Amino acid sequence: MIPAQIEFSSVTKTYGPITALRDVSLIVYRGEFLTILGPSGSGKTTTLMLLAGFEAPTKGNIRICGKSVVAVPSYRRDQGIVFQSYALFPHLTVRRNLDFPLEMRGIKAAERRARVDRILERVHLSDFSNRMPSQLSGGQQQRVALARAVIADPPILLLDEPLGALDRNLREQMQGEIKSLHKEFGITTVSVTHDQEEALTMSDRIVVMRDGQIEQTDTPEALYDCPATRFVANFLGESNCLEDACFKIETAGAQPAGTIPMIRPERVRLTAGAELNYADAALRQSVTGTVVDMVYAGALRKYRVRVASSALVVREHVAAGQDVFRPGDEVQLHWLRSDVRFVAR
Ligand SMILES: Nc1ncnc2c1ncn2[C@@H]1O[C@H](COP(=O)(O)OP(=O)(O)O)[C@@H](O)[C@H]1O
Ligand SMILES: [Mg+2]
Repeated sequence: MIPAQIEFSSVTKTYGPITALRDVSLIVYRGEFLTILGPSGSGKTTTLMLLAGFEAPTKGNIRICGKSVVAVPSYRRDQGIVFQSYALFPHLTVRRNLDFPLEMRGIKAAERRARVDRILERVHLSDFSNRMPSQLSGGQQQRVALARAVIADPPILLLDEPLGALDRNLREQMQGEIKSLHKEFGITTVSVTHDQEEALTMSDRIVVMRDGQIEQTDTPEALYDCPATRFVANFLGESNCLEDACFKIETAGAQPAGTIPMIRPERVRLTAGAELNYADAALRQSVTGTVVDMVYAGALRKYRVRVASSALVVREHVAAGQDVFRPGDEVQLHWLRSDVRFVAR
């Protein structure tokens, strides 16, 4: 199996008066784990439906390994698919559910048996092969669905919020499972989620969608560290967009037109005293503020601090010997000028 390259060229999809996707161009590289991230209604599922062949583009082209697939029906596309509610065949045992896609491909019984055994072991369900889906937990059912999607060794795996219905621990476990399957098989994977943490931890690259268009595409680190727009900055984590700040923001470079300065909450430090006595003090900006409130969240504390008429969010990891501030406390805020980013409005 050679992992595939996928290419969307100026793809538009309309449903009557609704434009679900507008002029989307996108490349998924061979063997890559690409996540499409965006709020509800931004066009994520539509993108996946087009890729799966359940829908056809209104305009534009989709190529896999250089060949247009817009006229190729879904069942002819060699893809594994897992949806949030992708039902297993309820009247078939786990073994038969996994066996079915192999049988459809005309693979002989002995080989099928060996493959099913192998994948069952791989997803830790060897003891469950004779159960019916209704006798499995949600997490186990999703593991079977995942096993079924990859059992025939497809070059492409499509995931549409497959972990959405699972609770947090199970979700993290499954994320690890998907990630290691991806590594092991080298399947080109396109995953859809609205969960930014899942996107950041799983992906080689992330496509951020908004209103049927791509807002930004980059690696998780680059997206988080250098968001191009305010929307991306806010969607991937918390941000202080210092648009109407009543104090002058000192920055390392000139501010491009049409942008606002932004600083991440964890890039700001709080102290009680007037100055941080650091060697890099000259590289920092320091301002005075008043603590509005503090939320304690185990390993970190989240403060809201008023500076003139702006409110800044500051996130501090709980560490030994660290000052804890209370509402009403006067504090100094410090950040490196080079940590200020410019995001489009
Ligand atoms: N079959 C359809 N008929 C009409 N509108 C649709 C259909 N499928 C999706 N849409 C609309 O297209 C937009 C994008 O939907 P979708 O791709 O499902 O978003 P997401 O998966 O990001 O939540 C939404 O406004 C949605 O209402
Ligand atoms: Mg969706």
